[in-house]
Amino acid sequence: MEWFEDDGFWVDFAGALFAPHRRQEAQRWVATSPLFTVTTGTRALDLGCGPGTYAVPLAARGAQVTGVDLSAAMLDQARTASKEAGVALRLVRADMREFVEPACYELVISMYTSFGYFADPEQNQLVLRHAWQSLVPGGRLLMDLFSKEIFARWAGTPKTVEVDGGYLFMRDTVLDDWTRFRSDWTLVRGVTARHGFFEQFVYSAAEIRAMLAAAGFTGIVCFGGFAGEPYDNNAKRLVVQATRPPESEGDLA
Ligand SMILES: C[S@@+](CC[C@H](N)C(=O)[O-])C[C@H]1O[C@@H](n2cnc3c(N)ncnc32)[C@H](O)[C@@H]1O
Repeated sequence: MEWFEDDGFWVDFAGALFAPHRRQEAQRWVATSPLFTVTTGTRALDLGCGPGTYAVPLAARGAQVTGVDLSAAMLDQARTASKEAGVALRLVRADMREFVEPACYELVISMYTSFGYFADPEQNQLVLRHAWQSLVPGGRLLMDLFSKEIFARWAGTPKTVEVDGGYLFMRDTVLDDWTRFRSDWTLVRGVTARHGFFEQFVYSAAEIRAMLAAAGFTGIVCFGGFAGEPYDNNAKRLVVQATRPPESEGDLA
């Protein structure tokens, strides 16, 4: 089993990954960011929607949201969150490498580094190609990534954070000449310790631009956050917007 196919990983580390402050932040960005301009009826696809962190606030603003995730447990959490918020979500259990609904969405999102999980680079490229196909001509893809430039600032320094009445220890290892990295996490609560890890690609802005261009996107712009700030030395995230050209038709060759 690949690490990302393990429901237990997402469930056991949910306290760190999907903390309440992230939900509030997502709500705020969906309401205020110039990059989330959704109106009533906007069809939005959330690839790797997790517990509905962005899907729920988008639906609350009137978007018709489809959330795709491989994890049944995450989809259950998204279902619960949507019920609590009183909004409807269409939730689909699928692998983002396979999911494609041609020309069905004005907006496709991939949030909180839900991209780059596959060891074969072609499979990550395929996800972008499917996103392009799922967009209507003129539709936008919005990606929120932890980038290579940001990673390089603190790679190698172990970190500890307090999570849910416990402590999470995180150690990163650079892999394959800085193309990928591994992060080992140990969550200690009382006398129990849960270990987990993930390995994924970490892209520079230039690399992700090249991948998006190869998938057929144009109007590729990198930001340092959802306020639309520049992607510079102060950036905490890499937020990329890309457009399926308005005049484009059908599939890519
Ligand atoms: C880091 S979480 C982010 C979740 C959400 N986007 C957020 O902002 O909180 C990544 C999500 O991608 C999902 N995922 C992992 N591999 C996947 C795959 N191959 N296809 C679809 N979803 C996948 C995981 O189950 C998890 O819910």
